[in-house]
Amino acid sequence: MIFGVILAGGIGSRMGNVEKPKQFLTIGDKPIIIHTIEKFYVNSRFEKIIVLCPNQWINHTKNLIRKDFKNTERIVVIEGGDTRNETIMNSIRYIEKEYGLDDDTIIVTHDSVRPFLTHRIIEDNINYAIEYGACDTVIPASDTIVESKSHEVISDIPDRSIMYQGQTPQSFKAKRLKELYESLTPEEKKILTDACKICVMKGEKVYLVEGEVFNIKITYPYDLRVAETLIKGE
Ligand code: CTP
Repeated sequence: MIFGVILAGGIGSRMGNVEKPKQFLTIGDKPIIIHTIEKFYVNSRFEKIIVLCPNQWINHTKNLIRKDFKNTERIVVIEGGDTRNETIMNSIRYIEKEYGLDDDTIIVTHDSVRPFLTHRIIEDNINYAIEYGACDTVIPASDTIVESKSHEVISDIPDRSIMYQGQTPQSFKAKRLKELYESLTPEEKKILTDACKICVMKGEKVYLVEGEVFNIKITYPYDLRVAETLIKGE
């Protein structure tokens, strides 16, 4: 079984002083999170689309979904976790409880604040996760990456031709990801904010899916303005 997992458990602190988490802000004529869910909803390969948000926003999210979608049975809203990885683990626990986990259980995890992903990106993620077990959506780095361990002086400038910028979706065989996550120490769990890094740290191969430059994450107020422009072009 294949599940869409929409990560909306964050509070969007970098967006500044807004009245709600950024995933609930409107672009075009709908909340960002609804645009994102729509992209998953039209793909019939998903058994269920699991949306994870802060506890106090669950009812609000359910209401938004009722307004926008006909078949709300396909979408379930549950509580996220304290960290992004914990939010992903909550989705896996839900799947385990409701359906059981087997080697073919696939999750396509995606930031709720990346509403511009495409059908092709989702399809590639599903196919790669089935074939290889884990994949990450990336684009080639456009800027030179400068590393500074001291935050004052350059420690390295890696070869740009082998650098990529990470996007989402990130997709996994859920059972394996859970096993790997559970094998981490509490310290490792704190450092490993990226789900793909869990696999990389544990020596598992993560394959690259080609992303899109426009598959942006809405993080800062500036990104909202970009998103408004992009949505007009869709
Ligand atoms: N996320 C999540 N659970 C968390 C933290 C983040 O599901 N405990 C989600 C966010 O809702 C977002 C995605 O992960 O859709 C990408 O994270 P980010 O852009 O960092 O979102 P926030 O944590 O909300 O933003 P900030 O870091 O500015 O507070």
